[in-house]
Amino acid sequence: MFDRSIKIAPSILAADFANFGAECRAIEAQGADWVHVDVMDGHFVPNLTFGPAMCAALRPHIKGVMDVHLMISPVDAYLEAFAKAGADVISAHVEAGPHIHRTLQAIRALGKKAGVAINPGTPVEAVAELLDMVDMVCVMTVNPGFGGQSFIESQIPKIARLRQLIGDRPVHIEIDGGITTATAPLVAKVGADVLVAGSAVFKGGSVDNPAPYGANIRAIRTAAEAALG
Ligand code: DX5
Ligand code: ZN
Repeated sequence: MFDRSIKIAPSILAADFANFGAECRAIEAQGADWVHVDVMDGHFVPNLTFGPAMCAALRPHIKGVMDVHLMISPVDAYLEAFAKAGADVISAHVEAGPHIHRTLQAIRALGKKAGVAINPGTPVEAVAELLDMVDMVCVMTVNPGFGGQSFIESQIPKIARLRQLIGDRPVHIEIDGGITTATAPLVAKVGADVLVAGSAVFKGGSVDNPAPYGANIRAIRTAAEAALG
């Protein structure tokens, strides 16, 4: 099942918060591969979003992969709730506590795919000992907390190093933050396969006018695939 084809994962952080169910249905109908759900606690990151109850409410509106990005600390006490809420992939930050190894074991023990996320200031070597126990590494290309920030270009060599470290392991590289038609090729070229995009997917559209979502998703995918040659 594992493959490195480009997958577009719209972040519902950029959706209409009063219409999440319809927004999830709209982005999937318009070609989204995964749905990326940003959970923030006002402590690990300076913003608050939503918790497991929201994820459970969204689940029936998402046919494909629900990709839950936990920007919370502590994280372990909440894993079971997000697993029960129907997450397919659960990512925790390496910076969120002293025991990321235990956290990743717990995610897999719950029967979910495990992701480890790293902030822009964290070297990729921080995940080197974890690569045999994860399904995905999420490289943040903005400081987490808010959508609509500018892509931090200095992360590109880091993504290339991660791709080398991963070798032939079945581990996805997800890039989160500032993905647009301009930045998608830069990360695809160095080995990223899951591209999270909030503002760049939702711009210009709405649940009543979802066609721009499809055009935006196609444009990002085409730009990324063109870089693969
Ligand atoms: C930031 C979140 C991202 C964010 C991406 O903390 O993890 O998923 O929504 O938004 P854009 O694509 O607008 O940078
Ligand atoms: Zn995210």
